[in-house]
Amino acid sequence: MMPIGPLMIEHRLIERMIDVMREELNIFEKEKKLNPEFLKTAVDFIRTYADRCHHGKEEDILFRELGEKKLNDEHRHTMEELIEDHRWGRKMTARLVEANRRYIEGDRDAMSTAIDCMKSLIQFYPKHIEKEDKHFFIPCMDYFTEAEQQSILREEWEFDKNLIHEKYKNIVIAVEKELTSRTL
Ligand SMILES: [Fe+2]
Ligand SMILES: [Fe+2]
Repeated sequence: MMPIGPLMIEHRLIERMIDVMREELNIFEKEKKLNPEFLKTAVDFIRTYADRCHHGKEEDILFRELGEKKLNDEHRHTMEELIEDHRWGRKMTARLVEANRRYIEGDRDAMSTAIDCMKSLIQFYPKHIEKEDKHFFIPCMDYFTEAEQQSILREEWEFDKNLIHEKYKNIVIAVEKELTSRTL
């Protein structure tokens, strides 16, 4: 398998979540209320899976290795654009988290912000994925030898293996901090 194989498989799961978000958004607009529990699930998916696990492998492994190669202008420009897209996605997700938090606390005005953020993310992901799938990933494989591709793939597996430990270690650190701040 090429190192873009796992990344393209992950794109398909991200698309499925985006499809659900689109349907949920229609329901929110029809019922004029949010479903904060769904939003928490969607945001956890975006942060843990789409950003940490998926963009993490792109930026920390594939793009890092491409950065060592002499990319043509078009590929160099697209890679910079993709990294900027990831940053934008993080900001928009943080805005959605904040709007959902305010909504849960009773601020009904937060609903329109949450809806705008959802619309932006629903538009953003398919475009970003198409840019990678159709215009970047496959031509970029030509910069690597077969051995380099296999080494990137191995590093991707290793990255995934560590993620579950990282996620739950961070959860323990957060609850420890929470407890300490309450007992001080
Ligand atoms: Fe990406
Ligand atoms: Fe991607």
